[in-house]
Amino acid sequence: MPPAGWASAFRCAPPMPEPARLLVEHARELVTLAGPPGPRRGAAQAELTIIPAGSVAAGEDGRILAVGPAAQVRDLVRVTRETTVIDAAERAVLPGFVDPHTHLVFAGDRADELVRRLEGADYLEILAAGGGILSTVRATRQASPEALQRRARRWLDLMLAQGTTAVEIKSGYGLSTEEELKLLRVAWALGEEGPQSVVATLLAAHAVPPEYRARPDDYVQLVCEETIPAVARTGLARFCDVFCERGVFSVEQSRRVLETGRRYGLEPKLHAEQKSRLGGAALAAELRAVSADHLEHAAEADLRALATAGTVAVLLPGAAFMLRDEQGAPARRLVELGVPVALATDFNPGTCPILSLPVILGLACLRLGLSPAEAVAAATINAAHAIGLGAEVGSLEVGKLADLVVLDAPSHRHLPYWFGMNLAHTVVKRGRVVAQSGQRVAA
Ligand code: NIG
Ligand code: FE
Repeated sequence: MPPAGWASAFRCAPPMPEPARLLVEHARELVTLAGPPGPRRGAAQAELTIIPAGSVAAGEDGRILAVGPAAQVRDLVRVTRETTVIDAAERAVLPGFVDPHTHLVFAGDRADELVRRLEGADYLEILAAGGGILSTVRATRQASPEALQRRARRWLDLMLAQGTTAVEIKSGYGLSTEEELKLLRVAWALGEEGPQSVVATLLAAHAVPPEYRARPDDYVQLVCEETIPAVARTGLARFCDVFCERGVFSVEQSRRVLETGRRYGLEPKLHAEQKSRLGGAALAAELRAVSADHLEHAAEADLRALATAGTVAVLLPGAAFMLRDEQGAPARRLVELGVPVALATDFNPGTCPILSLPVILGLACLRLGLSPAEAVAAATINAAHAIGLGAEVGSLEVGKLADLVVLDAPSHRHLPYWFGMNLAHTVVKRGRVVAQSGQRVAA
């Protein structure tokens, strides 16, 4: 019979804590977004689950090992010589931003189009005359995959330096099966390269290509019978999207593409009610789409339908800003009705060459009336759910990827306030520092 002291000491000895790859300590405000699974909606859109003087630790696998008050986290993990320790006193720490809507694989630019729009030309009329999206299609078809990847790499690095650690990338500047596959392969290669997590979306129905100008239904048929099956076979895309808009794709054409996509395992998303109310939001709700994006011209009934369907509203105030559209998306009403609201840059060469999600967050507060807290949830946990990554990223919870941003500011409230300034002091992806003071660093 061993002495009682020995037995109890043995029983109480804690298991050896796991070594930490990274420990971010004493954050003035540790914004965890921890909570029940699923996106934040209604009043919960503003609940950030903040831990004052909090710490977060990442394990060797790049996932979060512990998160909580600083003293508790120190007890739960083992700090070794290899551990990167970051003192975040006086700083806010947030989950890495998630950008759930970009068109970032493209060639060329459309600076001249902006000048034309400033002179009064209309975005959709430019497209109808064979310019706009179609001018980017011409440039992108001519570009090699390597050149497209190099260019996109640069955009991703700039996004990373602003705190964006996961990104959705749409195709849509190829508009043929081969050219769309080319763009999706580039998106896949960018994800393989890292550090950002990348999710790809097939947007073959972004515009009617010039070859099909007189017979748009034949293009829809090609997308359904050839492009979607070919893309599904490769496994390169997770979602299928359509630009449902007056003069682009009708509700019926959009339905056909999205239903076909779903049959092939690509979940629906939709560019809906951006420039006019065509019925895209109602279609997104009917199909229980993962997200309905834009929504500037959505009506009350559309918002109610989205609330019932549980579809995430991805708002893109950067595009409305660059198009000088007075009509902003009904962000406040969406929150009131319980539609989960997410934010994205919509980064593309036409309607939004803004790649900073914090700038978009600022626009969402200043122009759409979201509170800083609602906007932070929109650019993290809700954005993650809008691209099917809700279980992996978007909040600081044990088991999720250790993706985070240390701000050069004491609170998330500073994000819309220092509008246009890059507040990302240190950016971490999978527990490794990947950007510092606005520069990508080798992990
Ligand atoms: O989300 N509106 C359709 N698609 C993009 C713009 C693409 C472009 O103009 O090149 C958008 O705004
Ligand atoms: Fe878009």
